[in-house]
Amino acid sequence: MNTENIDKLLLKEIRKRRTFAIISHPDAGKTTLTEKLLLFGGAIQQAGAVKSKKIARAATSDFLSIEQERGISVSSSVMKFNYQGYEINLLDTPGHKDFSEDTYRVLTAVDCAVMIIDSAKGVEPQTQKLMEVCRMRNTPIITFINKLDREGLEPLDIFEDIEDKLQIECVPLTWPIGMGKRFKGVYNLEKKELGLFSPGYSPKDDGGILIKDLDDIRLNGLISESQAEQLREDVELIDGASDPFDLDLYLNGTQTPVFFGSAINNFGVKEMLDAFVQIAPVPGKRTALSRDVEPTETAFSGFTFKIQANMDPDHRDRIAFFRICSGKFVKGMKVMHHRLGKEIKLSNATIFMARERSNVEEAYPGDIIGIHNHGTIKIGDTFTTKEKLKFLGIPSFAPEHFRRVILKDPMKAKSLQKGLVQLSEEGTIQVFRPLIGNMMILGAVGVLQFDVTMARLKAEYKVNATHEIVDLSVARWVSCDDEKKMKTFKQRNESSLALDSEGCLTFLTTSEYQLGFAMEAWPDIVFHKTREISRPA
Ligand code: G4P
Repeated sequence: MNTENIDKLLLKEIRKRRTFAIISHPDAGKTTLTEKLLLFGGAIQQAGAVKSKKIARAATSDFLSIEQERGISVSSSVMKFNYQGYEINLLDTPGHKDFSEDTYRVLTAVDCAVMIIDSAKGVEPQTQKLMEVCRMRNTPIITFINKLDREGLEPLDIFEDIEDKLQIECVPLTWPIGMGKRFKGVYNLEKKELGLFSPGYSPKDDGGILIKDLDDIRLNGLISESQAEQLREDVELIDGASDPFDLDLYLNGTQTPVFFGSAINNFGVKEMLDAFVQIAPVPGKRTALSRDVEPTETAFSGFTFKIQANMDPDHRDRIAFFRICSGKFVKGMKVMHHRLGKEIKLSNATIFMARERSNVEEAYPGDIIGIHNHGTIKIGDTFTTKEKLKFLGIPSFAPEHFRRVILKDPMKAKSLQKGLVQLSEEGTIQVFRPLIGNMMILGAVGVLQFDVTMARLKAEYKVNATHEIVDLSVARWVSCDDEKKMKTFKQRNESSLALDSEGCLTFLTTSEYQLGFAMEAWPDIVFHKTREISRPA
């Protein structure tokens, strides 16, 4: 076969792909926006399809349903849809009670993100945390300010809040006209089009009403005279005060284009999606330990960023979510599983369509495939056709919640140990062994992770255990270039130190204040919020 031809085909497929996640605080409208995006992409036919999953999820968070007892997240992890010829992969970021380390780690597998801000609330804590993760790779962010049909904060106040809390410059691409009961629509500053709002709006393919000059007298009739005047003033102010949209600044994560709308009413979503496919980056290069890997390289490569247990108790298999970084995936292909030094055949990988899974015949960089396995794959594992690579940037995140494990049957200590090792490798939980004593401490980013761990220990390892709160709330991995200084630090802080499941030294303490205190006292010690998984020494 002509290799030049393959490259061109590969390039064509790569250019069609956009892989992203939505970051938001619970209730800002992520489920609603997801549903509208899937509707525009023709992946679902009616509203409510995603919602019903959300209801199911809410229920599982309230009580230990069968799924939860087995430790399974029922969230739709990856939704693939097409829009205007683009193949879009939307990765779910579990955000309610199922908020977990997965939520963070999913962001390591996307090329860009859409941030939803509730116009009445501004920047909320979960958004702030997720943005911190996006910052690690300078992920480009598009902002959607939602719920304009309700009374909210003034747009410029929201910008100030975003710029202040998230350190990213806002550049409006649309501008709202009023809000709440007086919400009339948005003016597209680039296309100079007016989109008039109506509840249950259905967007037109030919765009809005062209108003090239805001002094156009028609404007007074389309919205009210006072609102037209306000819009003129606002646009003049924006032109004077805000920098123009700069693609490079957006792509390196320092500037965010902002759209206004009302997801529940379909309003402003199409404008955002149209811009998204134009400016969201195509799958880019990824950093591996030895070198950067370009997506256009014909040799297949990728990494695992999430593992989900199977719903079927008779089949102990798991699905590893695998992001393709280069080359083409073909059903049945053989790849090297480098951590195990073994060749494996990918014969029954799954691709995730919006609502169902199907067997995948071929897939390309940016795509996510699901690989069935029996516990042989762990988070961060790299597979390639040949070259020994280890992709970086799929870390463990410092836990914020801690529990002590209480084993009910002491005879099961070995099984507990085995189970916790496996579950920590799958990213379900983190396990720490303090340097003093023989207690085991579990660490998690979301509290549901503890229940999931206990349920899975019981179902899969026949271990009956419970957990109990411990007085800890901060963990940091520690390192130091100077061995001697590290030794002294270890000696003086033995009671606050533990080893994680990979033997990495971790400082555990009760508060951010105590952490600050330690950081001040030990300026040569580096306190890390993330730790690269199984990075070879
Ligand atoms: P989430 O996934 O980010 O948690 O948010 P979700 O989409 O579930 O939305 C949270 C609530 O906000 C929902 O109301 C939803 O209907 C509402 N919402 C979303 N977008 C808009 C909008 O543009 N305008 C207004 N006014 N509301 C919006 P709920 O009462 O919690 O649920 P439901 O009873 O509507 O299903």
